[in-house]
Amino acid sequence: MKEGKYELSDIKVVRLAKFYDVSDFDCEDEDLNDFLKNDSLGHQNAKMVNTLLLIRQDQVVGFFSLCADAIKLGDDEKVQCDINKPLQEFPSIKIARLAVDKNFENKGLGRIIIQLAIGLIRQRIGNILAARFITVDSYKEKIKFYEHFGFVINEHSKYKKKDHYVSMRLDLLNPPPNKEK
Ligand SMILES: CC(C)(COP(=O)(O)OP(=O)(O)OC[C@H]1O[C@@H](n2cnc3c(N)ncnc32)[C@H](O)[C@@H]1OP(=O)(O)O)[C@@H](O)C(=O)NCCC(=O)NCCS
Repeated sequence: MKEGKYELSDIKVVRLAKFYDVSDFDCEDEDLNDFLKNDSLGHQNAKMVNTLLLIRQDQVVGFFSLCADAIKLGDDEKVQCDINKPLQEFPSIKIARLAVDKNFENKGLGRIIIQLAIGLIRQRIGNILAARFITVDSYKEKIKFYEHFGFVINEHSKYKKKDHYVSMRLDLLNPPPNKEK
C-alpha cells in the first residue's frame, strides 16, 4: 500500500469459484450484492458472464465481470475512431459488473479493477479474441468515474433509450487523453 492506496501487489485476483466466500461482500448496491451472492456462479456456469474476485487477506474486497459484446457506432463516432469499415457492429468486451466493498472504497481498488480489465483485454483476451472497445453500462452517477479512465458515452440512437444506465465505451486503439495513471 502506498499513500493510503492499494496496489495490484496487495491483491490476489481469482476467477469466481464456489469455494470463495462472498457472503460478507457489501458495496451498498443491492443489485450488485445480489448478483455476486446469488447469480454470478450460475451465469458463469452458463457461459454468460465470468466474474473475477479481488481478494485481500482472505476477504473479497471487490469484483468485476466480463462478457463478449458488440457495439454500434454513429457516423461521427466512426470518424472519431478512424474506422471506415462497413460493419454494423464492432467487437467489444463488456465490463458487465464492477464493485468495491464499502469498507475498501476510495483506496484505489476501482482504479485497479479498470486497469486490470484493460490489461487483460489488451494483452491476454485480445491476443486471441479481437475486441476494439471495452464497454460498460454505467449508472448515471458513475459516469465521471468511467470518464476518469477515458470512457466516453455512446451516441448511437440504440443507446439513447436506457433510463437507469448510460452506455459507454473505451477505444483500445485510440484512447482519448485521460487520467489513467
Ligand atoms: C465506483 C467504485 C467501483 C469506485 O471504486 P473505488 O475503489 O472507490 O475507486 P478508487 O479509489 O480506485 O478511485 C479511482 C479514481 O476514480 C475516482 N472516482 C471514484 N469514484 C468516483 C465517482 N463516483 N465519480 C468520479 N470519480 C470517481 C477517484 O477520485 C479516483 O481518482 P484518482 O485515482 O485520480 O485519485 C465504488 O465506489 C463502488 O463499488 N461503488 C458501488 C458499486 C457501483 O456503483 N459500481 C459501478 C456500477 S456502474
